[in-house]
Parts: sequence; C-alpha cells; structure tokens
Amino acid sequence: MDTSAMLQLNEQQQAAAQAHRSAAVISSAGTGKTAMLTQRYLNHVLGGLSPLQVVAVTFTEAAAHELRGRVRAALRHSPLTTPAALAELELSPIGTIHSLCARICREHPEEAEVPASFQILDQAAAAIFAAEQREGLLASLPHDLFLGEAGIPLGQAERILPHLLEAPHLTAEALAVMAQPWNELREAWEEAAATLRTAARARLCNDEWHHSAALLRGLTCSDASDALYPQWQTIVAQLEAIERAADPGEAVAALAEARLSGGGKAANWSAPPAEVRAACKFLRDAAEKARKDGLIDLRIGPDDEQLYAKVATLRSIFERASATMAGIKRRAGVLDFADLELGALRALEHEGVREWYRQRWQVLLLDEAQDINRTQAVILERLATLAPDNLVCAVGDEKQAIYGFRGADVEEFRRFRDEVVVGRLGGQVIDLDQTYRQ
Ligand SMILES: Nc1ncnc2c1ncn2[C@@H]1O[C@H](COP(=O)(O)OP(=O)(O)OP(=O)(O)O)[C@@H](O)[C@H]1O
Ligand SMILES: [Mg+2]
Repeated sequence: MDTSAMLQLNEQQQAAAQAHRSAAVISSAGTGKTAMLTQRYLNHVLGGLSPLQVVAVTFTEAAAHELRGRVRAALRHSPLTTPAALAELELSPIGTIHSLCARICREHPEEAEVPASFQILDQAAAAIFAAEQREGLLASLPHDLFLGEAGIPLGQAERILPHLLEAPHLTAEALAVMAQPWNELREAWEEAAATLRTAARARLCNDEWHHSAALLRGLTCSDASDALYPQWQTIVAQLEAIERAADPGEAVAALAEARLSGGGKAANWSAPPAEVRAACKFLRDAAEKARKDGLIDLRIGPDDEQLYAKVATLRSIFERASATMAGIKRRAGVLDFADLELGALRALEHEGVREWYRQRWQVLLLDEAQDINRTQAVILERLATLAPDNLVCAVGDEKQAIYGFRGADVEEFRRFRDEVVVGRLGGQVIDLDQTYRQ
C-alpha cells in the first residue's frame, strides 16, 4: 500500500474532511470514510493543532497503526510540518476506545478508582482469567442458591456466570430493571417486543421483497385446477399476512416452508415458471432468515415468567460473585476492557479531570462509530463536549453494526450523531455515496 501520498478526495469527502465544523458521516462500506477521516486528521494538524490535541478512536490497534502511519507519511511530505509535530504524532492519542480508556485510567488512577499501575487483560486474556476463577467463585457461593424452586442449578449458574460478569455495571442495570413487578415488566417487554417486530418486518419487507411479492401477486392463472394454483393462493395469503397482520410470526414461519412444486402447466400462467420460482425462492429465503433472526415472532410467555421468579437468586449470585471477582482482580492488579471503560467513566465524572482534558484535547475523531456500546457512548460524549467549540467527526455504517457485540448498539451511534454531533456541537450530517471498493 502506498502510504506516501494522500488520496484525492471527492467533493463529499472533502466537505466532511473540512476541519472547522463537527460532522457525522453515515455511509456504506468502501465509500471512503476512513480515508476521509485520515485527511481530516491531517487538516487539523496542518491547520495548527498539535497531534497531542487530536484524539482518534479506531476499531482495532491495526487500524490505529495504519492511521498514524498515513498521517506520518503525509506530514513528512508537507513543507508546513514542524519536527515537533512529527515527534508529537508518536505520542498522540490514536488508538482503540480501550487504549483511550486505559490512558485516562493511567493519567487519573485515583479518580478512576484503579491501581496506579495495572496490567490490561484483552478479551482473550480476560476470558482465561475469568475461567480460572470460575470454580472458586462458584464454591464461594452459598449452596442454597442452587437448590429448590427459586434456585438456579449449579450447571446453569456456571454457564451464566461469565455473561453476568462480562460487563458488571450493565448486568447491575439490567437486574435493577428486573426488580419491577412482573406485570409492569411484562407490559414494558410486550411494548419492546412490538417495536422489535415492527422493525424486523420493515427489514424483511424491503424493496426486493416487494418486487418479488408483486410478481407473485400479479400472476394470473387460466385454469383453477392447475396443480400449483392452491400453493400459489396460500403464498399470496401469507404475503398479505406478513405485510399487514398485527403479529406476522406464524405467516413468516409458514412462508419459510412454502414451495411451488409438483406439476402445473406453464401455459396456464402469465409469467415464465423460472421467474416465478425465483421470486418464490427469494421470499422463502428471506422469511427463513427473518424466522431464524427470532425478532419477528418474539413473544413474552410462561418461560419468561418462570425466569422472572429466579431473578432474586440471579441477583444474589451476581452480587456476591462480582464483589469476589473485583477483589481478585484488584489484588492481581489487572483490568479487563469493561474495567477500563468503567474507570474512564468514573474519572470523567470529576470536574478536575474534565478540565485537564479540556486543556489538552480539542478534537475527537471516531471511526467505526456504529460499534460503540452505551458506556463507550457516554465516555465519548463527555470527551466530545468538553468544550463548546470542540470539533468532532464520527463516521460509521449502520449496516455494518456487529449487533450485540460487546453490547454495541447502533442506537448509540444514532443518538451520538443526533444529540452530540448535530445537537450539541452544531455539526452537519454528510453522506458519502460513491463506493470505491468492489
Ligand atoms: N476519493 C477516493 N479516490 C480513490 N480511492 C478512494 C477514495 N476514497 C477512498 N478510496 C479507496 O477506497 C477504499 C475504501 O476506502 P475506506 O477504507 O476509507 O472506506 P470506508 O468507508 O472506511 O470502508 P469501511 O466501511 O469498510 O470502513 C480504500 O482502498 C481507499 O483507498
Ligand atoms: Mg473504514
């Protein structure tokens, strides 16, 4: 890869790379978001900022390395570059969200409530560390938690424990929500399930869907005794139910099994059989995918109520195990990613810490912003809004969100874009619509 020269950006990329206004860029893969962000970084530095004042958050360490490398190469070619800027680039805060959190924790251990010196456990190391402690943790719990109606059997507890402890502050929040009376919780869940169903239906019934559905609906058959006639009628009825019924779950499951097979005469039909079969296959596959996704037939049932009855036990297991685990990690002087996030969050609650960064950081660049989770969004919001004239640029692609990964939630990106970049910082939203990657 040629890192010696920067790309010639298109007009939209240039607009987004302008470094005097905050921006959020939402566009699909290969439209040059990262290329634009790199140019924007450079514009900030060529515009007079020190790299030490520019925070750049990338999704991986490799991406951070590449960004630094490209900026370094471009700075070396610019007559405006000072030797100080090049030296400062090497120390600049370019890295993953976790390396940024680690920096904040190291710079403010007291406020972050972490040891002054600590070792970071990446995801793999954290999983191994947690697995090593699991047996001891379970053994330290009172045995009656595993027994009786409200108990959680030991085997199950063993399986659940890693999930409970992965991001303890999020678990604590979830358990707090679960403390509501069952009826209220059920109502809230039903509402949430309905919203998810609606969204899942909108995803399923996209343009391609409507195209294939219209083809099937528009068919005519000159002979009602044709073997395919009843199958075709059933499919059309299923399409109707999926698009309009309050609860499309059953129709989706039925369509996922639908076939147009077993004879039929091509001459009876108004469209060529191959075209009809292709449309039917597309709809069936789409229905199957939606069914597997599980959101379209999400219902709150007796299993959920049974689970609810065990929440108190779950809370007890979680509280004891997380307190024990926190002690073990403290003594070992290790922090996992969730600890780093929490430490940074705690530190940034202190006005003194915020002031410290307000004087140092003026720009926040955020790549792959669709993958931030809620805690990260709060940290980034605090950094983005340290001062009213902070310049922020967040880029992402909602379609690439790795749903649920480390609690990532595309809603957080949308909120960050609307409330922070546009709302608080008066930034603009820019679309890049030229794709460069095949
Ligand atoms: N203006 C441009 N002219 C020519 N090539 C470009 C331009 N912008 C980007 N590219 C090239 O297109 C490819 C994709 O760019 P880039 O990685 O920045 O896209 P992206 O939107 O960040 O993609 P992703 O969503 O996968 O992160 C890269 O090889 C990049 O060099
Ligand atoms: Mg990119």
